[in-house]
Amino acid sequence: MNKLAVLISGGGSNLQSIIDSTKTGILKDIAEVAVVISSNPDAFGLQRAKNENIKNFSLDYKNMQREEYDRRIFNILKNCKIDLICMAGYMKKLSDIIVNEYKKKILNIHPALLPKFGGKGMYGHFVHEAVVKAKEQKSGATVHFADENYDTGEIIIQGYVDVGENDTPEIVAEKVLKIEHKIYPEAIKKVIEYNKNKLII
Ligand code: GRF
Repeated sequence: MNKLAVLISGGGSNLQSIIDSTKTGILKDIAEVAVVISSNPDAFGLQRAKNENIKNFSLDYKNMQREEYDRRIFNILKNCKIDLICMAGYMKKLSDIIVNEYKKKILNIHPALLPKFGGKGMYGHFVHEAVVKAKEQKSGATVHFADENYDTGEIIIQGYVDVGENDTPEIVAEKVLKIEHKIYPEAIKKVIEYNKNKLII
């Protein structure tokens, strides 16, 4: 069973879709969410973890150096014997100590079709506002490997949605979130299968 750590900062709807797919969906008998780590003590995602009896940590980064903060996360990941790290709405970059140890084992989801509409400052509603402003006819979500930069790692899966002429950023956000919930578990499965085959070869 592959052990997942899900890193969150907010509502955790992607966390929920990952949990659901480990219970009754495409990740059943393949993966389990072993720990949830939140950078925000008020994140509703923490409640979701509690509801499912999943080990959870809220690490407030105020008054803490980034290295020290990530060292704590690193220790949790090691203690929980984590195989894959899934960033799902996690609002911080991970530092080298984690990125180097978990190469090709850290996934992130971005609410646009990278490489478009990515990079620093492109998060949350800013992404969907930019998509509408650019009059894009399609948007979507991207699951990619995370590295030490923002939104630049190798793409694993993308899901597409149509953007209507009169769609507001809120409408686009809603459509994209729906597709996120579908592709994140698919991307996790793909990475697990890839790693398994690599071991067999
Ligand atoms: C998602 O749109 C994700 O793409 C972005 O942050 C949002 C998280 O939503 N990185 P949730 O916390 O999973 O509901």
